[in-house]
Amino acid sequence: MSKEKKIDLYLENQSKLSLLRFITCGSVDDGKSTLIGRMLYESQMIFDDQIASLKKESNLHGTQGKEIDFALLVDGLSAEREQGITIDVAYRFFSSSKRKFIVADTPGHEQYTRNMTTGASTADLAIILVDARHGVVTQTKRHSFIVSLLGIKNIVVAINKMDLIGYDKNAFIKISEEYKKFSKKLNFETIKIIPISALNGDNIYQKSSKIKWYKSSTLFHYLENINIEKDKKAGFVMPVQWVNRPNLNFRGYSGTISSGNVKKGNEILVLPSNKKAKIKDIILYKENLKKASKGNSITITLDREIDISRGDIICDSKKVIDCADQFNVNMIWMSNNPGLNGRTYIGKINTQKISIKILEIKKIYDVNTLENYSGKELLLNSVSECAIAFNKAVPFKNYTEDKQLGSMILIDPITNETVGCAMINFALRRSKNIHIQNLIINKKLREKLSGHKGLAIWLTGISGSGKSTIANALEKDLYSKGNRTYLLDGDNIRHGLNKDLGFTDKDRVENIRRVAEVAKLMVDAGIIVIVSFISPFRIERQMARSLFEKNDFKEIYISTPLKVAEKRDPKGLYKKARAGKIPNFTGISSPYEEPLDPDLIIETDKINVNKAVQKILETLNH
Ligand code: ADX
Repeated sequence: MSKEKKIDLYLENQSKLSLLRFITCGSVDDGKSTLIGRMLYESQMIFDDQIASLKKESNLHGTQGKEIDFALLVDGLSAEREQGITIDVAYRFFSSSKRKFIVADTPGHEQYTRNMTTGASTADLAIILVDARHGVVTQTKRHSFIVSLLGIKNIVVAINKMDLIGYDKNAFIKISEEYKKFSKKLNFETIKIIPISALNGDNIYQKSSKIKWYKSSTLFHYLENINIEKDKKAGFVMPVQWVNRPNLNFRGYSGTISSGNVKKGNEILVLPSNKKAKIKDIILYKENLKKASKGNSITITLDREIDISRGDIICDSKKVIDCADQFNVNMIWMSNNPGLNGRTYIGKINTQKISIKILEIKKIYDVNTLENYSGKELLLNSVSECAIAFNKAVPFKNYTEDKQLGSMILIDPITNETVGCAMINFALRRSKNIHIQNLIINKKLREKLSGHKGLAIWLTGISGSGKSTIANALEKDLYSKGNRTYLLDGDNIRHGLNKDLGFTDKDRVENIRRVAEVAKLMVDAGIIVIVSFISPFRIERQMARSLFEKNDFKEIYISTPLKVAEKRDPKGLYKKARAGKIPNFTGISSPYEEPLDPDLIIETDKINVNKAVQKILETLNH
């Protein structure tokens, strides 16, 4: 059969068959790629030309002598081949006569939890691969835990490499028991344990003649027949991904149904506009459907014209979605930079971009025992329960009801790295009860009385750089010209408002959060406030800036080489720090992250105080 014909046949079949999405998880050497390659091969969906080139490649790179190396079908990237591990999520499509499948191949290497999370977020089932020689290991537990957090209810434990332990029944039983015992707390609905050899094809598609003691389904048979309950009770929700307007006579809204199902004629509600309409048509490719359900990517048309744009939500008019801005979430941390209480990140939920602050790290889980303990930082791969706040209310659902509206990713605003993902357990009630009061006397009126605008001048730099000296001279100058001023100095504030804080990363984050909020109030009061804090982390300075209107905040980097500051050592602190008497000292045992794009840089080893003040004033007048 030609390649084109196969594709046609595939597409024709496609719309009629049910779809099973699954992920495979395992450690680097568990044989995951081999298993997926074997499944693709057995499902006859490998095109002939791919097989020819595969044979050639197997001879070059394969690890199986002259035999076809199935892992090469999956490990598409040459960089991966060189490293010998798979490094990103790869989605594979294949189909049998009974069902179509999408498998997310997720790397098992410890630092790649992120990819696994991505792959698992849409899956109905997970295959957890266990190497028969090693049994249930830490990775098996970690993967199972993450899979359960991500709401996957159906598990296949594929005990692979049975050939290497002589197809030993007792070993299989022992591993099975151990897994069942461990997974009791994970709320899985089905667990199927199958002895296989992906390399030899034992119990993949055909029953193994070597494992006669196992009488149940092969892997393929099980995947083809498992009944995946799509939640039928949940209300219909479809976030709009695209407004489809090919000509003036047609206006359709495309997206993937994230929960529930929908029929022609149903009444729907559009959020945030709160407009109602009825469904006219439901279209999938060129077909007109009567109904569609969760997971279907469809285009709908409505019986009347209403304004809908990308990012809006279309939902059942009787099961309206709540909005909130504070949540209890489960969080998976994916960055080497620790997550800290009070730190603010960019968040993406559904199609919305928001800002997310970690209010409180409540529990951190031990993936081995599933017990939890209290902790202060979110470290790479950690799983935790946290309270978080958004900067505005958004429509949401609990993660178990709707994965799309109930999950979000967190992005570091400085590096753009995805640092975490969170799943909503519930909205915090307090978020609904506290409202911003509209005050009668506002910033504009207060500024009128001051005779100038409110402004925050943020001086950052290491200890001994000259921040305090410049801040004092600057305030004196501004004051003498009739401005209303205030100076917030790190050392002073740490004697009062922030006297409960030390110099750990976590405490510095809180130190800056508080002083930024205070500065904001002062600007709102129509005051020119000078903030003189080391403020060593970019992410907190960025957070501080984000609290202010565009022209109300100036970041000024008081720059001095460490050597010079150390030589000045006005408070004798560097000497003590070098002697190991002050832990976490900025520049010595704690980092200072230089501003990348400050409004002004003052190099205090090159200019004097008067010149520095003059330069700052010039910047303010711009
Ligand atoms: S910040 O890093 O959290 O912004 P902040 O500006 O409030 O620091 O306080 C810095 C001042 O505290 C320094 O000027 C210094 O006098 C004093 N100090 C005491 N211990 C440390 C330390 N470990 N690191 C830096 N400064 C310290």
